[in-house]
Amino acid sequence: MSDSTQTLPDPARPRVHIGAAYYPEHWPENRWPEDIRLMQTAGLTVVRMGEFAWSALEPEEGVFDLDWLERAVRLLAEAGISTVLGTPTAAPPAMLVQKYPLILAVDENGHRVQFGNRCHYCVNSPDFHQAVERIVSALAERFGQNPSVIGWQIDNEYNRVCYCEHCQKRFQEFLKIRFGSLEALNEHWSTRYWSQTYSAWEQIPIPIGPHNPGLMLEFKHFVTASYRKFQKLQLDTLRPNLIPGVWITHNFMNWFDGFDHYEMSTDLDMASWDWYVGTGHHDSLTSGAAHDLVRGYKRRNFWLTETQPGHVNWSPINNELNKGELRAMAWHALAHGAEAILYWQWRSALGGQEQIHGALLDPSGQPHPLFEEIRQISQDFRTASEWLAGSTIKSQVAMLNCYDSRWSIQGQPHHKDFKYEDHFLHYYRSLAARNLNVDILSADEPLNGYKLVIAPTLVILNEKRVRQMTDFVRQGGVLVLTIRSGLKDGYNALLPSRQPGPLAALAGVEVEDAYALDEPVPVIGEHFQGTSILWAERLKILDQSQTVPIAYYGRSNGWLDDRPAITHHPYEKGLVYFVGVYLDEASQDKLLENILSSSGIASIKTPANVEVHQRTDKHGQDLFIVINHSQAEQVLEWPGPYIDQLNCTSGQGPLNLPPYGIALLTTRLTSEPMPPLPSPE
Ligand code: GLA
Repeated sequence: MSDSTQTLPDPARPRVHIGAAYYPEHWPENRWPEDIRLMQTAGLTVVRMGEFAWSALEPEEGVFDLDWLERAVRLLAEAGISTVLGTPTAAPPAMLVQKYPLILAVDENGHRVQFGNRCHYCVNSPDFHQAVERIVSALAERFGQNPSVIGWQIDNEYNRVCYCEHCQKRFQEFLKIRFGSLEALNEHWSTRYWSQTYSAWEQIPIPIGPHNPGLMLEFKHFVTASYRKFQKLQLDTLRPNLIPGVWITHNFMNWFDGFDHYEMSTDLDMASWDWYVGTGHHDSLTSGAAHDLVRGYKRRNFWLTETQPGHVNWSPINNELNKGELRAMAWHALAHGAEAILYWQWRSALGGQEQIHGALLDPSGQPHPLFEEIRQISQDFRTASEWLAGSTIKSQVAMLNCYDSRWSIQGQPHHKDFKYEDHFLHYYRSLAARNLNVDILSADEPLNGYKLVIAPTLVILNEKRVRQMTDFVRQGGVLVLTIRSGLKDGYNALLPSRQPGPLAALAGVEVEDAYALDEPVPVIGEHFQGTSILWAERLKILDQSQTVPIAYYGRSNGWLDDRPAITHHPYEKGLVYFVGVYLDEASQDKLLENILSSSGIASIKTPANVEVHQRTDKHGQDLFIVINHSQAEQVLEWPGPYIDQLNCTSGQGPLNLPPYGIALLTTRLTSEPMPPLPSPE
């Protein structure tokens, strides 16, 4: 049972955690002390264990062996390392699958998936739910009160979609609740088209490939509801057993679009995610968006539950990150709201599919060269904890994200290269280049407090969104609406109006027609002469006295020639831009400059590849994280005096940054620093 005498990190001293995924079940127990000694040398403060360990935790159905895990938790705690436990449900073991074959998911082609990978379960399988409840209860009862277990992760990277008969029945039941009657469903989905009219719920299929847009959208909602229910089952099993303050999360994947992440996050205490670069190197102008996205799931800081130590094993080219890049990435994550960074993984199992993935230790059990860099990051985090723990991110700019709109475009991209997330990042990039903090929010969140709100391709509107955007503009906000806005309702049906539908009066324009472009068309703006790529919308000005075109189309397909391409429209105290184009990068940047200046938002100018991001500490003081994301030395002209808390220097004006150099700037002095790490041997 849990032992409360263990040595634990001082809870009165909040810290930015650094850690790794550790799988003690892969190694003989007499190796663990050496692993833990090396973890101390690396400066790790937390490990994540248990995910995927189902067969070691429940070797026979209903027979548990949790002692080894408890011993590992205790040894780690004695070394001052906290534990996050993963529920092992992403890896239902062979003995379960053999006895309950319906646990295995069915793929789109009707085949049951094979055992031996992971996430091979049907998320709705009653047999699976029963087995999940049993293992999670056992873990909760044994570890819920263990003070060394500071948090829990449910499952691992939900992703599988199941097409089995059971899921189809559940889907039909889901639709019954959602629509109430078949008449309503038929109406919303326009099922007279191609004789799709349903006269019994049992007739409704799970969509495979392109299908009725309404059906496709509802299936995404159903997948979300299925995972949410599965997650809830685990939450309800865990929560009553946990010490107050112990949190529960799930590790989401980047811009993964399998379900609505806002809904999935509702029941969690904290959002977290896994950041992998794969081939190449990270692009600091867009990777911040993924952090901001996850921060927006619960509108608070998050954990980076996994990131790659050096290289992965699943990308076309599994290149190593440059020396120093790992550290820049760690700081980039902190700058965007991470409260912890955990590397995946400590040491690779000698067998198993991921045997040649990056790790902190090599197959011999000795540190990889990058171990030293991780040690340096730990040292950084000790220093930074004094400043960053408890700090938050405040933004003047919000970008609105909507899974329904994204799915709607995916179902009907209309241009093979039109990707919701690319278009989103097209706006984000210019904000990042100006070092602006950005909140990425669900399109259903309230907008008060922001100066500028950008709603890229908000295809799907509902009354709440329209009301909130209107209030925001009324009160003086600047709103940017873009191509494909306000086309559909919440059932993925076209609105019986021109785009942007109920936002037309606010925008002062409507869209007479939209064109997927086989070649770019010229666009001439006040501050640029460029092109629209992929897409162009022909705008009709509704409010002649107020709406101002700020860019026009040049000669192209005849339909667009000389027509307004971008407009702005004052509305009460605010301003609404309508961007009918998908501009080339340079012109887009000029447009954003113009939008920012009319929003009264000042930005920090830095050389290319130098990022400055701002956190605000618990006393309301600004903390500036400066990151050189390049292999070249850089000089940043700082507009005033600074104290660099990380490098223990102070100055005014030019700040020299070595390759991948970092600085943490404040204007006031620190108190007690964290003690240094033990020396490496
Ligand atoms: C994912 C998983 C990890 C591991 C890594 C490898 O993110 O969550 O278990 O497989 O990928 O890159």
